[in-house]
Amino acid sequence: MFHPLASSDVALILLLALHPLLTSAAQYCALKPPSGSSPSISSGIQQGTNATDPSNVVASAWYPGWLATDFPPSSIAWDKYSAMTFAFATTTPDVSTIALDDVSAQALPEFVSAAQSNGVTALLSIGGWTGSMYYSTAVATAENRSAFVNAILGLVSQYDLDGIDFDWEYPGREGLSCNIFDPDDSAHFLSFLQELRGTDTGKTLVLTAAVSLTPFVGSDGQPMADVSQFATVLDRIAIMNYDVWGSWSPTVGPNAPLDDSCAPAADQDGSAVSAVNAWTAANFPANQITLGLASYGHSFRVSSTAAIQGNSLALYPSFDTDPSAQPVGSADTPGDTSLDPCGNPNGVSGIFTFAGLISGGYLDPNGTAAPGIKYTFDSCSQTPFVYNETSQVMVSYDDAASFAAKGRFINAQGLLGFAVWDVTGDQDDILLDSLHEAMGIESVCE
Ligand SMILES: *[C@@H]1O[C@H](CO)[C@@H](O)[C@H](O)[C@H]1NC(C)=O
Ligand SMILES: *[C@@H]1O[C@H](CO)[C@@H](O)[C@H](O)[C@H]1NC(C)=O
Ligand SMILES: *[C@@H]1O[C@H](CO)[C@@H](O)[C@H](O)[C@H]1NC(C)=O
Ligand SMILES: *[C@@H]1O[C@H](CO)[C@@H](O)[C@H](O)[C@H]1NC(C)=O
Repeated sequence: MFHPLASSDVALILLLALHPLLTSAAQYCALKPPSGSSPSISSGIQQGTNATDPSNVVASAWYPGWLATDFPPSSIAWDKYSAMTFAFATTTPDVSTIALDDVSAQALPEFVSAAQSNGVTALLSIGGWTGSMYYSTAVATAENRSAFVNAILGLVSQYDLDGIDFDWEYPGREGLSCNIFDPDDSAHFLSFLQELRGTDTGKTLVLTAAVSLTPFVGSDGQPMADVSQFATVLDRIAIMNYDVWGSWSPTVGPNAPLDDSCAPAADQDGSAVSAVNAWTAANFPANQITLGLASYGHSFRVSSTAAIQGNSLALYPSFDTDPSAQPVGSADTPGDTSLDPCGNPNGVSGIFTFAGLISGGYLDPNGTAAPGIKYTFDSCSQTPFVYNETSQVMVSYDDAASFAAKGRFINAQGLLGFAVWDVTGDQDDILLDSLHEAMGIESVCE
């Protein structure tokens, strides 16, 4: 999955002696989940709780640390979350060194202290699309696993973290083109998690993993039939149900489909429905699964003939695949010549955040399609598409309606909650509030 990083010039800054900022005690807020089955639920989200307590709901998002200058931790609506994950620390050739770029290293202490003073679990994510290169070697041998555990415990202690999110993209699979990977990655990953969980500090840490639509692959390269052991050491997983379709796909398609079983057979490329089915069929408990939701979309250059079908927008139209035709998204820096860690140009992502669709004129300030913009809500993927006929730009994204549909799915499936990539993409909490309302989550403050 594609997590845009601002710059490939990541300074390896580790073990900076940064002191947590002092903050005064803020009002304490807890999230009250829908069922009302337990009257004790308003007692709040506790640090280090895990999924064995059904009264917990996990309302979480990732915080992109490299955007800290424009989006400081103080701008997060903390009372609407139970957990927040700082992205990313990255793996390095030295198993004992986990890297943070300098903007992130500066922002992390403020992030942790803001989270904790709001009763929100503070996690640090390791990896991401461009930061997973050395995961495989870090867990390859018993010696390396111990060193990696120690490096993580060092970060936990240095930054006073409540938990660690493992965003390894992906064990046993290539991911970014120059990643190291090995057929035994998943087995080694499990051994590593068991060792970390077995340490004194590890027992109380919240341990999470960001995962693909299908279970971790085994040594045969196929999704494992039984991943239940991962559920005994991880508190939860977040299924990254986004970037399912994008510029790499044969046609336009939904970035974050809720369902694909109702799509034409050729267009069934995975969805929240298929992913939850696959993980639970492999014995990962539903109540330890959070659904990843996208506060952004992917853009495509589509001719009017292909895009428009009667009064509506065509689903799965062809698009201009020439990289020079890729629309510049709100998340892109025009003229960006940066390289990814493999030395390839990052290029134009075409990603529009939900807020960027509003500022770019595609959506009105209330998040509905602007006058002159064509809009379709695909009833199968339950996601919207917008199209500007003049610029020939089509965007597959998520809106209040698609977030609500996903919220109802989370409840209906008995999932643990949600994880939004990322916390900065929303506008005036239009998406988040819609999700809370659909799930029946209330924020209770004392
Ligand atoms: C989860 O919480 C239960 C009850 O508090 C506890 O017994 C169990 O050991 C915890 N599990 C993990 C993996 O932390
Ligand atoms: C163990 O980690 C070191 C780097 O710290 C690396 O050079 C080595 O290749 C790793 N071992 C394996 C078997 O990957
Ligand atoms: C959103 O705002 C536009 C005008 O800016 C208005 O026409 C439309 O009715 C509003 N939609 C909703 C759902 O509030
Ligand atoms: C559609 O794109 C054209 C060309 O870029 C632009 O001038 C126009 O404002 C856009 N329309 C809307 C409704 O944003």
